[in-house]
Formats: sequence, C-alpha cells, structure tokens
Amino acid sequence: MKAKLRTPQPACTPMLPGLLEYRIGDCGVVLADIPPNSVPLILTDPPYGDAAKPLYEWLAQWASRVLIPGGSLICFTGQSRLNRDMRIFGEHLKYWWLLTMKHGRSQRLPGKFVIAGHKPVLWYVKDFRRGEEFVSDLLISPHRNKQEHPWGQGTGGVDQLIEVLTSRGELIVDPFAGTGYWGIIATSMGREWIGADLAPGGGVLMQQPRRDIKHAGSVVGSQRQGEGAKTAPEEKALR
Ligand SMILES: C[S@@+](CC[C@H](N)C(=O)[O-])C[C@H]1O[C@@H](n2cnc3c(N)ncnc32)[C@H](O)[C@@H]1O
Repeated sequence: MKAKLRTPQPACTPMLPGLLEYRIGDCGVVLADIPPNSVPLILTDPPYGDAAKPLYEWLAQWASRVLIPGGSLICFTGQSRLNRDMRIFGEHLKYWWLLTMKHGRSQRLPGKFVIAGHKPVLWYVKDFRRGEEFVSDLLISPHRNKQEHPWGQGTGGVDQLIEVLTSRGELIVDPFAGTGYWGIIATSMGREWIGADLAPGGGVLMQQPRRDIKHAGSVVGSQRQGEGAKTAPEEKALR
C-alpha cells in the first residue's frame, strides 16, 4: 500500500488496498502537481449554478492536461446549466456520451415546472475512448448518501464506471470529493484514488481507520470547516 501522510497519524491497520488520499484545499491548488497524461479517469460531481462556472472552466482545462490519451472525464452535473457545461468541456475534450443517473425519487422543480426523475452525467474523453467494453448509459442510484454529506449522490452506477473505465492499480481523481465515499468504492475495487475538497467531507471517509489526508492550508477535522462555491437553495432545486 502506498500512503502519503503529511501529518503524524495514529497507528492503524490498513483496511483498503491501494492509495487513498484526500487533499484539503482548493482543487486548483492541491491538484496542481498531478502530472500531465497520468490519470485514466476523473470521476467527479462539482457544485452547480452560475457561481460554479470557473470551476467547470478549470476542470475542463485541467482534465485535458492530466488525463491520459483515451482517458475519461465523468462529470455529474445539473440540467439547468447543461449547455454551458458542454460548451466549456467541448473546448478542451471530446464529447463521448450523455449518461443519466436515475433519482430514487422524482423532484418537482419550481420555476422550471418539471418533475425531474434523473440527472445528467457528462462523459468526455481525451482524444478517443480507450477500451471497448460496453457501458450502460443509465446509472441507477438506489439511495442517496445524504446522511454522510448534504450533496452525496449515492453509489449507483459509479462502480460500473470504475470497473469499465479503469483497471486495477490505476488512478482515479475526484477534485470535488465531498465525503470521499467514491474513493472508498474505488480503493475497495483495487484502484488508487486522490480526492480534493475545500473542507473534509466528514462521515464515511473520516470513519475509516486510515486517513491519508494532505493539508493545504485548511483545518482538518471531522466537521466541515469551510465553504465551497455553495449552491443557493433555488439553484439546488434546478440541479
Ligand atoms: C456536489 S459536492 C460533491 C459530492 C460528492 N460526490 C460526495 O459524494 O460527497 C461538491 C463539492 O465540491 C466542493 N468544492 C467546491 N469548490 C471547491 C474547490 N474550489 N476545490 C475543491 N472542492 C470544492 C464542495 O465543498 C463540495 O463538497
């Protein structure tokens, strides 16, 4: 097991195979050292809304640098800014497919007058898509992970994407990692994972006996200490 520890950690027994590293700070800063052409899969769920536009611009540029040729960016996003996000990603990466994550429960969206039963998940690649395994474009989310993190998406379909788009030992990066739950899924499947967030996601990741946490100016703790590009309630309703 590789582990990057920047602070003294209590002795613990590794529970999961592979690297799991959670970096605290702005993703543009704490992921700046990821080498070009080194990441087979970026699997992430950024904040939504107008205020988040610069994060999508950063993500598109950064992904085009760090993805290996044939690597994938899978980005959960919202319906209301979908055309903006596709325009941004399309400037740097090649569009591959629009996946759909089915909500456990439909949601009425005031203002849009839509009952939303699913959300878009964008799939872009760097130059081409490596591999020929079939991927279902319907991601089922049996439950949401709201107990662990207010924005958690549940696990539905994420394991399938990890399985098909990466091999054992390969690296997955999540610049907006929240709970880090996807990191636990990834490492339990034998992948390496690096996640970043402005503040520790708390919950499930923090309960793990090993916490490979890298400081980048923020306070580490089991409570959220900072704020991201937070989504206003009315924006959240339109995600
Ligand atoms: C939609 S949530 C991610 C949820 C995650 N998939 C989970 O399962 O918990 C978006 C996350 O982006 C984080 N975030 C916002 N701006 C950020 C930034 N500049 N750098 C790193 N993380 C940021 C927020 O703190 C929030 O946890």
